[in-house]
Amino acid sequence: MALARVQGIFATVLLLSGACYAAVEGSWCYDDQVCGPTTWDSLGHCGDGRQSPINIISVKAVFNSTLGPVHLSGYDNYKKLIEMKNTGKTVYVKLKDGLFLSGNGLPDVYTAKGIHFHWGNGAAHPGSEHCIDGKQYSMEWHIVHTRNNLSIAEAMDDPQGIAVLAFFVQASDTAKGKTAKAWDSFSKNLPKIAKKGSDTDLKSTVSLLDLIGPTNLARYYRYGGSLTTPNCNEVVIWTVFTDPILVPSKVVAFFPFNIRSTDSSVGPHLYNNFRPPQGLNNRTVEASSFLKLRSAASRNSQLVAFVLLISGVSALGVLPI
Ligand SMILES: *[C@@H]1O[C@H](CO)[C@@H](O)[C@H](O)[C@H]1NC(C)=O
Ligand SMILES: *[C@@H]1O[C@H](CO)[C@@H](O)[C@H](O)[C@H]1NC(C)=O
Ligand SMILES: [Zn+2]
Repeated sequence: MALARVQGIFATVLLLSGACYAAVEGSWCYDDQVCGPTTWDSLGHCGDGRQSPINIISVKAVFNSTLGPVHLSGYDNYKKLIEMKNTGKTVYVKLKDGLFLSGNGLPDVYTAKGIHFHWGNGAAHPGSEHCIDGKQYSMEWHIVHTRNNLSIAEAMDDPQGIAVLAFFVQASDTAKGKTAKAWDSFSKNLPKIAKKGSDTDLKSTVSLLDLIGPTNLARYYRYGGSLTTPNCNEVVIWTVFTDPILVPSKVVAFFPFNIRSTDSSVGPHLYNNFRPPQGLNNRTVEASSFLKLRSAASRNSQLVAFVLLISGVSALGVLPI
């Protein structure tokens, strides 16, 4: 089932739709050969060399001991998510002023402007944009920030104008507790924005930290890339957290179940709204210092296990082949 092509997009809608938002007027789409991601090369910067998303190969990432936890200020405030909108390409939530991101490797303080989501089709069909060692997760959630509170348009002129925090979401049949409840409560709004262009005021019950849950903010990959939708401007500092947020499978399925890609309530469902991985080319992905601790520990324990195995079998008088 092909998604309807979306034509004649208005600049206002584009500005509202987030980091992976479009800056072109014209037609692009996800799940159709005529306008899908393989055709985007001719749009804006989409054919350039520092594109996102990417498949992160963990063993090729360069550890950087200065990359500690990111610092988030205001993200525990449950009054910051103010309006949810169906853009026809994603679910976009506008954020109130006063959410600040900082940390090593970020040249300035960044202000959160909005969040949006990428998904596949329920628990069985993953839809994250980034992959780690080829693994694609159920969904990916982006918090979009501009440098020093620039407007989105101004940020397009600064090679480090935008910082996106990317979280993987993994559908889980056993997810429960505070984080699962927050996602459940947040997703209750989706039926109200089924049609493209519709929006709803949020009742201020969850904070960004409620949705982030126990994700370790010190474990992430960092690289320079682009917006993942046309015009694909190469202005983004990406922070991709490795720990997936576990969300009930029914909540994950609720996104494509409710959201339509046209302004008809019986129009096609929006699903697979992710761009596939792009070439890394001559870029380096940096790994935060906490990722090093963990992988060094697991390498050492593997080594110990191997040594024990070898000495164990030799003690039995059998040579390992
Ligand atoms: C580590 O990160 C800092 C801050 O972004 C940067 O200045 C430095 O070049 C990085 N080092 C490596 C080895 O990538
Ligand atoms: C950030 O920009 C917005 C929109 O221009 C403005 O309303 C807000 O007051 C600014 N916030 C700060 C902290 O400067
Ligand atoms: Zn995005």
